[in-house]
Amino acid sequence: MTAKEAKIRVDFLRKNIEEHNRRYYVESAPSVSDFEFDLLLQELQALEKKFPELQSAASPTQRVGSDLSEGFTQVAHKFPMLSLGNTYSEDELREFDARIAKAFDEPYEYVCELKFDGASISLTYQNGVLQRAVTRGDGVQGDDVTANVRTIRAIPLQLQSGNFPKEFEMRGEILMPHSSFEKLNKEREEAGEMPFANPRNAASGTLKLLDSKEVAKRNLDNFVYYMLGDELHFSSHNESLEAAKSWGFKVSEHTQKCKNIDEVLAFIHRWDKDRKDLPFDTDGVVVKINSYAQQRALGYTAKTPRWAIAYKFKAEQARTKLLSVDFQVGRTGAITPVANLEPVRLAGTVVKRASLHNADQIALHDVRIGDMVFVEKVGEIIPKIVGVDISERISQVFDFQYITNCPECGTPLVRIEGEAKHFCPNENGCPPQIVGRIIHFVARKAMNIEGLGEETIELFYRKGLVKNVGDLYDLKKEEIAALDRMGEKSAENILQSLEESKKVPFARVLFALGIRYVGETIAKKLAEAFGTLDALQNATLENLLAVDEIGEQIAKSVLAFFAEEKNQLLLSKLREVGLCFVAEKKQQTSSKLEGLTFVITGTLSRPREDFKAVVDEHGGKVITAISGKTSYLLAGEKAGSKLEKAAKLGVKILDEQQFFDLIN
Ligand code: IVH
Repeated sequence: MTAKEAKIRVDFLRKNIEEHNRRYYVESAPSVSDFEFDLLLQELQALEKKFPELQSAASPTQRVGSDLSEGFTQVAHKFPMLSLGNTYSEDELREFDARIAKAFDEPYEYVCELKFDGASISLTYQNGVLQRAVTRGDGVQGDDVTANVRTIRAIPLQLQSGNFPKEFEMRGEILMPHSSFEKLNKEREEAGEMPFANPRNAASGTLKLLDSKEVAKRNLDNFVYYMLGDELHFSSHNESLEAAKSWGFKVSEHTQKCKNIDEVLAFIHRWDKDRKDLPFDTDGVVVKINSYAQQRALGYTAKTPRWAIAYKFKAEQARTKLLSVDFQVGRTGAITPVANLEPVRLAGTVVKRASLHNADQIALHDVRIGDMVFVEKVGEIIPKIVGVDISERISQVFDFQYITNCPECGTPLVRIEGEAKHFCPNENGCPPQIVGRIIHFVARKAMNIEGLGEETIELFYRKGLVKNVGDLYDLKKEEIAALDRMGEKSAENILQSLEESKKVPFARVLFALGIRYVGETIAKKLAEAFGTLDALQNATLENLLAVDEIGEQIAKSVLAFFAEEKNQLLLSKLREVGLCFVAEKKQQTSSKLEGLTFVITGTLSRPREDFKAVVDEHGGKVITAISGKTSYLLAGEKAGSKLEKAAKLGVKILDEQQFFDLIN
């Protein structure tokens, strides 16, 4: 590969990986498996190593991911929370062992542990009492979630007995067992809320709840796997785990000392099979050098210890029969082939349907009706077909024919260059597209109109009450109340919610319009950059491309949307109805705080975002970590470590009143 080709590939990988990161961390809706994601990341790492001139601080290889959120106090980790090097390959595991063998003339042994798939946590104990529980965050600082963690019964609040050090830290994983996960998702679905994609997201989402009573109801579990401290009196990792167990921590019973790499591999093979029977998720095995002296001798790279590695299992697969294929039409007209399968158990649930993605994927795997196929879970919720068991193919099965016309409206399908999917171009007449756009419009992250589920919208459409999102605002109470399963009360609620949607900020209205490629983030960027619908409508290709993160595809899609007369009509209707087409003023109104940095902590009378907006408005900057260079700490009630740190560093401390005095 030439340097020029490498650059193109590196740019492509970075963009792609960032998008997957966003889907995973921001939307909790990953579209690739961890395996595929790690392959992309590994490819990027390799290229950056081979072409060091392409390295960049902004590359996704440089970040460890962050789960920092508003609403929690951020605390610096005493020992940074590193990640582990990982591999899916046995050969690479043997290479890891060869590196270790080369480093020592003496024998060494490993400890193998399950790699728990949850949320990592740092637990600090002083004199045997749990002082603080902090999430991983960005590895350097995390969120203080002590109140929530105290509700987890597997975590001792006070150690019972034993010769524990005065101060030490336990690292472990917070897990949501399958039984709790299924119960929680059932409750969420019944309440009309989005189910969690997998137990890991459910565990980390639960840790970030602001109400610890709710956390207590969710039955989180915990295993610890790593002890840290300045005065540990052990000579090996295994000893520290044994001690932790005796002090009351939960250490997995499936932890095993191994004398050589073959024993390690045997442990891995066993658990790749047996993990299906565990009551929680594991995504691999962690292999650690047991002796502390040897760990110290091996040391660390910038981000990972050299004395440990994670072997990751490939996603669980199931084998079942492909019965038939349906074709679904999305709100953008995109066609998705969906396989109907003979029901099969996979990673804790029964799978009956799986995505076949597009015609290319079907051709790639040469999928035919009647085949035995392999199914895998992507992000653990939408299963997909990843291959065919050709050995089982019966000769009389026919070649698979992809449809040529829309299964819903009969319009001939089109395939746009560069797009993997077929599209139904009949956007104004194809029912699932029309209904899909309305469903998108009312969704919680868009206009958040309550009481309008998919079925209700379909009903409105079938009865001719609503043909586009503008019609929603013409609905009459009597019309709604007269429909099946509706009554006065539900009608009133819907109208009330429609009324309230008029206060939804411009960025979300823009997202709700369902312009292709304009997701939540892009909508925010556009709203911020242009400020008003008028300005956005008048924007040229150049204006759009000048906005951070807006590329040609998005820009062209925005232009195409506004160029259509029917969209113009819809927008004037929505404007008339009173939807918000002007972004909240984010412009700076003064430069009173120019050059000043603020850290905000503790409980204030309003959300932190509001104070941040005030600082922004006056030209100041809000940062998360406090240092000697910070100008002010705005401290609310119950401010913790940051207050202490500010005092120590001589940073000026303000309460709310003093903060406003400063501006006025
Ligand atoms: S040891 C310095 N052991 O895997 C080594 N980690 O990328 C510290 N994990 O963020 C980690 N099970 O959350 C270790 N038995 C185990 C683990 C484990 C799960 C997670 C941990 C960490 C990630 C490593």
